[in-house]
Amino acid sequence: MTTTFLRNAWYAAVWSEQLKEEELLPRTIVGDAIVLFRREDGGVAAISDICPHKFAPLHKGRLLPGDRVQCGYHGLEFGPSGNCTHNPHGSGRIPPTCNIKSYEVMERHSMVWIWMGDQPADAAIIPDYSFLDEGSGYDIGRRDFLRIEANYRLVADNLLDLSHSPFLHDGVIGGPETIKADINVEQDGTTVRVHRPKYNVRPPGLLNRLFRKDGERVDIWSTQRWSPPCYLLNDTGAYPPGGERSDGSGVLGAHLLTPETEHTTLYHFAAARQGLILDRNEDQEEFKEWLAEARRHAFQNQDEPMVEAQSEMMRRYPEATARPVLLEVDAGPVRCNRILDDLIRREGASRASLSQKAADEKRVVVEPLREIK
Ligand code: FES
Ligand SMILES: [Fe+2]
Repeated sequence: MTTTFLRNAWYAAVWSEQLKEEELLPRTIVGDAIVLFRREDGGVAAISDICPHKFAPLHKGRLLPGDRVQCGYHGLEFGPSGNCTHNPHGSGRIPPTCNIKSYEVMERHSMVWIWMGDQPADAAIIPDYSFLDEGSGYDIGRRDFLRIEANYRLVADNLLDLSHSPFLHDGVIGGPETIKADINVEQDGTTVRVHRPKYNVRPPGLLNRLFRKDGERVDIWSTQRWSPPCYLLNDTGAYPPGGERSDGSGVLGAHLLTPETEHTTLYHFAAARQGLILDRNEDQEEFKEWLAEARRHAFQNQDEPMVEAQSEMMRRYPEATARPVLLEVDAGPVRCNRILDDLIRREGASRASLSQKAADEKRVVVEPLREIK
């Protein structure tokens, strides 16, 4: 497993609704310590969380009028661009090395995205989660969050290979009849779709409750979309055997993974029901809450302990775990990891050739990263 990160990419930092006014929110993203806050104009700013004076975390300071972050230790102040704007001591002189890094930030699909690279940020490559937008027609459940003690690739592998569902989520989102399935992997540019349909099977608990609630046999559609570096969209549901998807019910789920460090991952998730609602007497708010709880239960109490245990084994026994056995079910994860490895390799090569060129020419030219064809 390659353990470096792709830098020139957007990463999900926090659900928009969870970044409160006057809050200094610390986040570690691909190894950088960052503090996020709402500007007075309602936008979001992100600067380094490390005060350049004695390295106090800036999120332990105060957000003052005028979008000024005041260090809580000796009172240096910083603006949204990372420039030090005030030194309350002595002559008030601001040393030139006092400025800190700022990051480009964008709010889209109800999420705050942050650009971690040194190349120009490209808003067009934020993955499409427009079903989360206001007015999309989808009734979105709780926007939720977990912190997982494992490398983000292990969490992505877990979502890309749902053959674990009948074992780890038996009765909830899998069952004995959903073990066998044809897996079909499609690639479009750097986006991958892993299809895992099942036919004429007893529906697992969650799909049964979403659809007919009678336990009768169904066909199941299941597609996991992956966009680099680690953003997934799960589209799944049940419909009458041999029938049409339009006669079924399902869930559309966003799974946004953000590498914090090599060994920890921020996991944002949210979902909406899709398709027909067959039970007209059902309280929709109650159902939404039940769905959010069922999903959180599966991720927090079933996936998380397994992925963390797996991560621990890999940490403790690096030699014994250096070469995983690959099964047919790994086709999706293998494809996505190859794409990501290639993007990271290209980024590293581009950086190396840039520093060489800069050394030669004493100037830096940044070329945009090209997509894999
Ligand atoms: S550590 Fe921030 S002002 Fe001293
Ligand atoms: Fe799972």
